[in-house]
Amino acid sequence: MNTIHYRLDTPVQTLVLRIRNQGMAEAIYWGSNLPEDEDLGMLSSAHDIDLGGGMLDATVPLSICPEASAPFPGQAGLSLSGEAGVLQPTFRFESADDNDGLTLRFSDETLGLAYTAHFKAVGDVIVASSEVRSQTPVCCHWLAAPVLPGAQSSEKITDWHGTWLREFHRQETPWSHGIRMREARTGRSGHEHPPMAMIPLRGATRTAGEVHALQLAWSGGHRFVAEQLPDGRRQLQMGRAWDADGRGTRFSSSDLVMAVSTEGEAGIARSFQRYIRDQVVVWPDPARSRPVHYNCWEAIYFDHSLEGLSEIAERAARLGAERFVLDDGWFGKRDDDTSSLGDWTIDRRKWPDGLTPLIDKVHGEGMSFGLWVEPEMVNLDSDLYRSHPDWLLGPKDQLTGRFQHLLDLSRPEVRDYLFDALDAILRAHDIDYLKWDHNRLLPLVDAAQTDGVYALLDRLRAAHPTVEIESCASGGGRIDIGILARTHRVWLSDSNDAIERLRMQHEAALLLPPAVTGSHVGPRKSHSSGRILPMSFRAWVAAQRHMGFEMDPRELDEEESEILTRVTRWWKQTRDWRMAGDTIPLDSDDEAVISELQIAADRSRFVVFAGRHASSVQSLPLAQKLAALDPNARYRLHLVNPEDRPPQSRGHVALVTGDVTMSGAALMTHGINLPLSWPATMWVVEGERIA
Ligand code: GLA
Repeated sequence: MNTIHYRLDTPVQTLVLRIRNQGMAEAIYWGSNLPEDEDLGMLSSAHDIDLGGGMLDATVPLSICPEASAPFPGQAGLSLSGEAGVLQPTFRFESADDNDGLTLRFSDETLGLAYTAHFKAVGDVIVASSEVRSQTPVCCHWLAAPVLPGAQSSEKITDWHGTWLREFHRQETPWSHGIRMREARTGRSGHEHPPMAMIPLRGATRTAGEVHALQLAWSGGHRFVAEQLPDGRRQLQMGRAWDADGRGTRFSSSDLVMAVSTEGEAGIARSFQRYIRDQVVVWPDPARSRPVHYNCWEAIYFDHSLEGLSEIAERAARLGAERFVLDDGWFGKRDDDTSSLGDWTIDRRKWPDGLTPLIDKVHGEGMSFGLWVEPEMVNLDSDLYRSHPDWLLGPKDQLTGRFQHLLDLSRPEVRDYLFDALDAILRAHDIDYLKWDHNRLLPLVDAAQTDGVYALLDRLRAAHPTVEIESCASGGGRIDIGILARTHRVWLSDSNDAIERLRMQHEAALLLPPAVTGSHVGPRKSHSSGRILPMSFRAWVAAQRHMGFEMDPRELDEEESEILTRVTRWWKQTRDWRMAGDTIPLDSDDEAVISELQIAADRSRFVVFAGRHASSVQSLPLAQKLAALDPNARYRLHLVNPEDRPPQSRGHVALVTGDVTMSGAALMTHGINLPLSWPATMWVVEGERIA
């Protein structure tokens, strides 16, 4: 038997592929590192499984592109149709090269099809993608990125769902025979089905055990399939969702980013955070500290005035803001959300002298200036629509979302118009930041629209390389590695309710670094939940991520201003090492407490955030165990905010009395006792390695 093996390793994972008898490649191993001298021939032979009765006379391989023609007893990795109907390719191996990662090429000469798989180890992750080319136009219904084996010792599939204001809800589905499928058909990566999934092996926790995870680097529709075959094998597929009418000669799956951890979910968080921050995001100035934001949306909505915003700018700067973002309402005749999207010229009724007086004021207060835009959209009540009614994506009489339609970004003239409009604004003003919004679902699953927005963003970034961009889509509707290759921050949610945020941020940290995760201190009474939460909790929750404020600072009383100023000062003192380090979720023995540890890249210091979102069932707080420390090192711990202790906390707590010094081993096994706390309290403990 003619068998070739390939092996990819990162410091934490190994992928072994084999090609047998010139057939399609199979991933025969994906998991934690194998020894360097593993005998791949023996592994390959040991991988083969027996054959029983009542089935085909050979076991059809679970290849990186399972072929319907084989016939494979599950979901195929590729589904195409041509003029004559369904195509059922049988690919033969052509060639391999390892010039830039590993490229494997296959073809089906009869059907004029070529399939290419690419794998590359980048830091801790492996990035895999597939591409299909056809000599004649075909319709692609499905193309999975290289298909991976699902771990047999996993009991469940973990993924996330969400809606506006309630992003990143974890759900766990037991493996069972058949398919679990998530499919985003709304044309963007979406609140509903973020393009990511985790396969924890039996017994894995936040900080222990083996976990496998996937993310797709694509901002359009996508599909995830986890399937248990009748023979017991399991497969994982992820790729773009295709418009059934999308005919073409070349299709790509997008990059599938693969992570493996032997330290529970914490290792997944570390791998993805580092990959996105250090390899995906293109920072205009990597040395620039993340600036504290002020965003005026929940302060004034569409009610813009130079006088009001100047006063707000002064107060925001005094609180510690370093970037002032003027949100929706500055263009066209936009007094509410029913008009003007598409008309990217300054509203002279609100801004008779243009935006420059406000920008000068903001600069005078020592802040940089950012501006909100929503370029992909148009209102029917706009000059743009009136002059270009044919630029809509989909029919005019489609159901609108937030009273708006999409522009067809596959059309070069539409992209040129948008580029010129944005370029003119950026040329005429000293703007270092765009908040780029996308507030409705697409009327169809359309890869060309996503390619269009990528092209527009790429062109704009090339023309204005110092401008940072935030990806917002009614909050977290477009958070994925594809958009992060072109932007620098995501707006996780339109909910500034710190209780909601605490949970969301905790989940999202498995997939996103804090450096790109925007988090703002909202109004005293949350505009999305009506909840009134103490300033200390609101400030500390925002301080876990890329911090900002989004309330009218004129509502703050003296005590609230003092707390916010103090927490912001702390944020600035610690941001550089925290944003450059790892954010590790901690296991909490108390369901009412959500905890994480942020540790510096050199491991010399850390901070623990332990946030209480509800009352506990037991009467006293439970010890918080840490992770990711050196068991043999000694650490000095210091409670940053003892003032948040409620009157009921009246016992001895070492951290309240003074600093505590313990070994990493003791901190990870015994843990630290924190004071009793009311719901909506965040304990913040700094740690420093002293020996
Ligand atoms: C969306 C965003 C908000 C805000 C508004 C402006 O809802 O998510 O943050 O920018 O649009 O209209």
